[in-house]
Amino acid sequence: MGIFSLLKKKHSESVLPEKLPEHIAFIMDGNGRWAKKRGLARTAGHTQGAKVFRTIAEGCFELGIKAVTVYAFSTENWKRPKEEVDAIMLLLEQYMTERLSEDDARYKLRFIGDESVFVGETHEKMKRIEALNPKAENTLYIALNYGGRAEICHAVNILISEGKTSITEDDISSRIYTSASPDPDLIIRTGGDVRISNFLMWQSAYSELWFTPTLWPDFTMDEVRRILSSFGCRERRFGGLGK
Ligand code: FPP
Repeated sequence: MGIFSLLKKKHSESVLPEKLPEHIAFIMDGNGRWAKKRGLARTAGHTQGAKVFRTIAEGCFELGIKAVTVYAFSTENWKRPKEEVDAIMLLLEQYMTERLSEDDARYKLRFIGDESVFVGETHEKMKRIEALNPKAENTLYIALNYGGRAEICHAVNILISEGKTSITEDDISSRIYTSASPDPDLIIRTGGDVRISNFLMWQSAYSELWFTPTLWPDFTMDEVRRILSSFGCRERRFGGLGK
């Protein structure tokens, strides 16, 4: 074993398994600035960001984290120039094509958000990919045309259509898009901004938050391991008094 593998192993050992999050979520910010710093078009930042997305999502599963959610495209991102929106959609298409052509049963994929805007072949591809590996123990949620407030309204509208006249927190928790997984223990935002941007508004009630200045295309599993070591030392009290 080379020195680099040894160092990597040491890092992952410093994350106590019992303190590993079950569900981790990422706000993948900073692609545009990463490209600008290099004199490249913003779309080049998204291309690099898409590579890093796969490395990080799959790296988290390898560490033993059961669910990963990434914020790929918000309901507000349609305001960006058409060229940029098209480039992000193309990256998603490419990722879906890759997933459909490889025999990787490590995780199942769920798109979360308002999928009514996705039609035809793209929508069909999304459904085919979601049907893969139904028994996989890991889940990757990709938030696409997603807004946290819209998700809560969507859940409430389901409850209304079911005839409910009074609702509980459990009712909403069981109708949100990520209801099959526990709420995220940890939400990491790259790119230096300190805000949640309408991401997982319901689920984040007791999530630990982590903000890093690292731009998403520069983000690495080494940094994830360092963040997890620190997360493992945090005391989560959920409104109680703790130890
Ligand atoms: C935010 O950075 C990033 C996005 C709005 C898009 C994120 C998309 C990807 C990482 C590619 C997704 C691909 C797949 C396959 C999931 P920004 O552009 O707002 O960066 P800036 O703040 O530096 O301008």
